[in-house]
Amino acid sequence: MAPQTRHYRATARLLHWGMAILLIGLIIAGFIMVQNGLPQALQNQLFAMHKNIGLLVLVLVLLRLAYRMVNPAPPLPASISPVQRRIAAVSHASLYLLMIAMPVLGYVRVRAGGFPVESLDAWGVPALIAKSEPLAAAAKSAHYAGALLLTALVVLHVGAALYHALVLRDGVFARMATGGARR
Ligand code: HEM
Repeated sequence: MAPQTRHYRATARLLHWGMAILLIGLIIAGFIMVQNGLPQALQNQLFAMHKNIGLLVLVLVLLRLAYRMVNPAPPLPASISPVQRRIAAVSHASLYLLMIAMPVLGYVRVRAGGFPVESLDAWGVPALIAKSEPLAAAAKSAHYAGALLLTALVVLHVGAALYHALVLRDGVFARMATGGARR
């Protein structure tokens, strides 16, 4: 069996920080690309990037969940109260749920609206959903609500991480930031 550690393994850290950059980029690009008055070429590029990177996030989050099943998260320090553990568990589960739901809703919004998904189209992957205006409108609303919720959760998550890193200095941030020693 692999030696136990109080830190996340390199693969988990790579997935965490890589996906953090992609997710924050997707959220920022998402809110910018829907603004009126953007140059058409820039808007088209932002939409294409948003859709393709959004689907990459879906693949990565499924890989990450599979990896996490085989390599569970290291134990939290004993100083973390049961209430804090509960809050962390619920917010992390919600983040995972939204990282799956957002690309799926985005895909449904685009395909039901009859729009392209450039990467899938280039590979000849057929649309899995028929065109339907009511479905596209429902997915659009749900994608928007999910975007607001995800943004709030990301802010909460970053705030909590900084609080652990700068105020509590209890090792919770370090276990995702560095490798630490095997024991
Ligand atoms: C984790 C993945 C994703 C995140 C965090 C995300 C986030 C966002 C955000 C913040 C917006 C702007 C808010 C809005 O107007 O709805 C947005 C809009 C949009 N997203 Fe995503 N998105 C993701 C994945 C996808 C995917 C995979 C697709 C399509 C394949 C997609 C398609 C769209 C479209 C078409 C819009 C414009 C909505 C409209 O006004 O029609 N998104 N997204």
